[in-house]
Amino acid sequence: MKILLIHGPNLQLLGRRQPTIYGTADLATINQGLRRLAAARGASLTIVQSNHEGDIVGLIGASKDRYDAVVINPAAYTHTSVAIRDAIEASGVPTIEVHLSNIYAREPFRQHSVIAPVCRGQVCGFGPESYRLGLEAALGLAAPQVPAARRAARKGRRMGG
Ligand code: DQA
Repeated sequence: MKILLIHGPNLQLLGRRQPTIYGTADLATINQGLRRLAAARGASLTIVQSNHEGDIVGLIGASKDRYDAVVINPAAYTHTSVAIRDAIEASGVPTIEVHLSNIYAREPFRQHSVIAPVCRGQVCGFGPESYRLGLEAALGLAAPQVPAARRAARKGRRMGG
């Protein structure tokens, strides 16, 4: 299982940037926890932070056939970037949108995500925990599906059948 995690603009400042909104954990600490979780699940996790819309579009464009799922905090681009939205839609790679803050409880311009409609789901409002929940969701989407017949056989064995 291969997961790509993208941190958008200004997230390199986490820990120092408006800690009452975004918390005190820095990006390196958050990434460390996510790497640990991915390793425990036998997944490979690639993490990139970029302040540039075009770089993010390029990463997503190259994600098809390379990654099983993408987790993205598009940061300010959440509210403006049709280019990132189109890249996600075109890639066809299942994508989870993540935010530290609850964007729906903030300024009106933050309450709309142009990205959300092309994502499989969105996690927001839980601080760094949003990333963990987003990664869990991505691991679930990326996991090879166990065929129903094998699942039923396993259940039968557990029940002594
Ligand atoms: C953010 C919310 C965005 O509105 C903001 O521009 C960010 C961070 C979040 O994680 O809460 O940079 O994506």
